[in-house]
Amino acid sequence: MTISRNGLIALRDGALHTGTVGQISRNGRSIHAAYRYPARFSPVFARAAIELFSSEGELVIDPFCGGGTTSLEASRCGRHSFSSDLSPLATFLTSAKGRIYRDEEYEAVTRWSEQCVRTKQMDLKLALHEYPIPEEHIGGLRRPDYRFIRAALSSWKRSEGELAFGFDLARLCLLRVGQRMLDLRREPPSLDEFRRGLEEAVAQTIDASRLHRETVNRRWQGKRNSQRFMTEQIAIEELYEVRRLQDRQATLAVCSPPYPGVHTLYPRWQIEGRRETTIPFWLAGVTGDTGEKTYTMGGRGTACIDEFIDLYTSGMKSLSKVLQPEGHVVQMVGFSEPRTQLPRLLKAMREAGFHEQKFRTLQTQEGRLWRKVSRQKWYSAVRSQETSGASEVVLIHRLEGP
Ligand SMILES: C[S@@+](CC[C@H](N)C(=O)[O-])C[C@H]1O[C@@H](n2cnc3c(N)ncnc32)[C@H](O)[C@@H]1O
Repeated sequence: MTISRNGLIALRDGALHTGTVGQISRNGRSIHAAYRYPARFSPVFARAAIELFSSEGELVIDPFCGGGTTSLEASRCGRHSFSSDLSPLATFLTSAKGRIYRDEEYEAVTRWSEQCVRTKQMDLKLALHEYPIPEEHIGGLRRPDYRFIRAALSSWKRSEGELAFGFDLARLCLLRVGQRMLDLRREPPSLDEFRRGLEEAVAQTIDASRLHRETVNRRWQGKRNSQRFMTEQIAIEELYEVRRLQDRQATLAVCSPPYPGVHTLYPRWQIEGRRETTIPFWLAGVTGDTGEKTYTMGGRGTACIDEFIDLYTSGMKSLSKVLQPEGHVVQMVGFSEPRTQLPRLLKAMREAGFHEQKFRTLQTQEGRLWRKVSRQKWYSAVRSQETSGASEVVLIHRLEGP
């Protein structure tokens, strides 16, 4: 495989510049913007990696799929995709964003949202009693000033059951409005604001999903095989057991593991920036462990690094069994202590049979591409000087040949 210089420049730009992601999030016209998955990477970066290290019609995988950035870009670039994650919320988001919906589904969800915003306050209160948010998911929303928000969510979630189709899209819209109005906000939104938020979330999500459908259909038009967009909830350590990956068709993995020692609230929102709620699981209609530690491969702080490295090593060994020989793995990784953790991560990759590839075009430091991170919804649990400015590195590895 020849690696083009222009492709490397595109990868460097995709990794370094966050502008495009910012724009995407502001105008909401990209399906990527339907949910701000914590520690997600840029679609521009994912696309550049896909175009550089795979060809049309090949299979690209992401075993830590999160919000589905890699898989959405893979299908837009004419690649098949397989995405997995330990979290059912992540696989829900990936599949709900990446699905190609029918017009009837868009119409049904639009009608559902019109009905939701018209629901009278009396009926909202009733929903609070008839269809309450399960205790284990309320968390920070329990406070009295969130009563109408809880009522609206109960009522909207209940009426979603009346939809003949388009459930996933409706749930994605609920997650979108909920995250925008509740997560990391200082105060509760008013009921009117919340209603307008739902209308806007539905309009933007449908608009973006239609655009995505057009792009994917155009890209796959006239191709011999139709595109495969597969998702599965499974830990990376067990990936080698997935039957449809056993013939080793995948040529590339573009992914981002949890960051060693870094505190990230993947399954939760923070009400008023502090009080946590696991309501995203309920809104998505998924069940599973909602503990923070489960999805960070060992939890926060340096004491958990041994556990992280053990899981990461077995995960990469598992990944090596489903990739074609000489297939690539492109990763974006952040650390709580890069100086000690990066060498251990690289050793784990060697043990799994991968060789690191360094490219002069990508170098910023020690032959690798590092970037500073700002405004991420995660922070280092260990605040030493070394970690004061969060930074992430791009790692490129190739699996040994046959
Ligand atoms: C940094 S996020 C990935 C973000 C993704 N690249 C995006 O753009 O949205 C890491 C993901 O790894 C998942 N994860 C943690 N432990 C895992 C494991 N053992 N197997 C598979 N996924 C795991 C988490 O649930 C989380 O979604």
